[in-house]
Amino acid sequence: MCGIIGYIGYDNATPLLIEGLKKLEYRGYDSAGVAVHTGNSLEVAKAKGKLYALSEKLQKIPQLVGNLGIAHTRWATHGEPSEQNSHPILSMSGRFAVVHNGIIENYISIKEELLKKGIKFLSDTDTEVVAQLLDIYYDGDILSAVIKVINKIEGSYALGITCAERPDELIALKKASPLIVGVGEGENFIASDATAIVHRTKDIIRLEDEEVAIVKADSIKIYNKNKKEISKEIVHIDWDVAAAEKSGHEHFMIKEIMEQPKAIVNTIRPRIKDGKIVFEQDGFNLSLDDLKNINKICILACGSAYHVGCVAKYIFEKTLRTPVEVEVASEFRYMKPIVDGNTLVVAISQSGETADTLAAIKEAKDLGARVLSIVNVVGSSIATCSDNVIYTWAGPEIAVATTKAYSTQLCVIYMLANYMAEKLSRINSDLYSSYVDNLLNLPSKVEEVLKNQESIKALAKNFYDCKNVFFIGRNTDYSVSLEGSLKLKEISYIHSEAYPAGELKHGTISLIEKGTLVVALATNDALFDKMISNIKEVKARGATVLLLTTEKHRAEAESVSDYCIYIPKISDMMMPSLAVVPLQLFAYYIAYLKGCDIDKPRNLAKSVTVE
Ligand code: G6P
Repeated sequence: MCGIIGYIGYDNATPLLIEGLKKLEYRGYDSAGVAVHTGNSLEVAKAKGKLYALSEKLQKIPQLVGNLGIAHTRWATHGEPSEQNSHPILSMSGRFAVVHNGIIENYISIKEELLKKGIKFLSDTDTEVVAQLLDIYYDGDILSAVIKVINKIEGSYALGITCAERPDELIALKKASPLIVGVGEGENFIASDATAIVHRTKDIIRLEDEEVAIVKADSIKIYNKNKKEISKEIVHIDWDVAAAEKSGHEHFMIKEIMEQPKAIVNTIRPRIKDGKIVFEQDGFNLSLDDLKNINKICILACGSAYHVGCVAKYIFEKTLRTPVEVEVASEFRYMKPIVDGNTLVVAISQSGETADTLAAIKEAKDLGARVLSIVNVVGSSIATCSDNVIYTWAGPEIAVATTKAYSTQLCVIYMLANYMAEKLSRINSDLYSSYVDNLLNLPSKVEEVLKNQESIKALAKNFYDCKNVFFIGRNTDYSVSLEGSLKLKEISYIHSEAYPAGELKHGTISLIEKGTLVVALATNDALFDKMISNIKEVKARGATVLLLTTEKHRAEAESVSDYCIYIPKISDMMMPSLAVVPLQLFAYYIAYLKGCDIDKPRNLAKSVTVE
């Protein structure tokens, strides 16, 4: 998600920066830009789209030559992908140029404060407040100005900064978003990861949160927040460059699975303020009257996003007591849908470009419905044509099989259901507060589940040559089964199906024979006993059962099933977020052991723009 590179040295910075950005392309981006100090001033070039658009532009700006510069590939979060919103972002005076990865969570209040002081903003980005604050705070002492900024902003950031009045230095700092300094000879770098610079130097310094690096061509000084210079270890890295693009992981899918706690933090954290769920940054404009008028929710989506919708039905209906329909978008258009001005349509899409979902939204809008979309890609077609958008800030997802986008979509559902319930006084304050606490605890619980990676890998060894697998569960466990089954079949090509646990005996149980794998999900305490009965039914027909449940049920789980996976407990509503992770890992390791092309499974596409 976004890429930063900065250079100071003896070479012309521009081609070096473009080369570095190319190495960061794998992170995903929708615009790019560079700022170079020419010796006299900061010159900036930016372009929407791919790097070749920026390179073409640079050919027409021969004066963009200098030994100091910063560059960025932007993956839009705040403000649509456009030249104006791409980085480097300049301060009003043009004195500072800033590149940023992360999210400044309190940018709205800072921006309001600065607007009152007469500061003019040219972009819709959260980043611009950093450039403007630097302009205000800088009085010749750059370290003090940067530390004042650190004390003012909240959120996550990796920042690269240049100042027109300081032609011989580059400033870097970070918090909860990675940034390294590359140590060369007569030249130094900053970068969001080593991929961008590893062809030039393999000696790096990893910045810690709230440390500030002042980087010159022949020196690097690092200070803590108290302006005390600190000494840092130089680490020599020894990777091959291709591995670095996946941060050392073999596939994007496993990288994205492991990124889920971070993606969840990015989606949830900025939307919880003082114990309340807020959609301030999303420009959410559903008034209390609008919410009161909703008599039906209709969820439209495809693929895994549809599976999120299936979880959402249980959650919305339980929390809001409003009827919910979940429709596969490709079917919705041809079913004479019953939606009107009192229907809230919730469209879910990672890419924001899925043709069927887009067409279904248009159909619903024509019928008068109000459309709220949950989308990952900023400025995408679905986002643009919706009345309200809540972005899942999961970062770019590259593997075809979705993981972190699915998980962050679930988080938006939890937040939306509780937000609406609270506004409509349909939830008591203690329960609401406990859900907010659960949301804040969710990333660490997912982290805990991920620690079981090795045991799930070991389990997969028993099953990678299976021919048929059945997933069963009840309530939200059934919805998660749909996703677990899809993950397995799409990347490992093993036939699998998901069934409501009580429904299997109405036909499909005839397919169970000795050794057929049944993955049973039983994470909901109230339904555990019913699941045990269903497990016994398949066991009696020879199935091998892998049971996914919580530690509390260990004794009984071990007595009825052949293999068990235990996950931590969180509120029942949020159990899908913990249950899906072992299933993603299980599918990944089965496909891995089968030698499948995990990131690009046959016949599948990441973004399906045909109907
Ligand atoms: C494709 C992808 C799936 C995704 C579905 C919907 O089939 O392979 O992973 O769930 O499209 O995509 P969307 O971008 O709308 O979420």
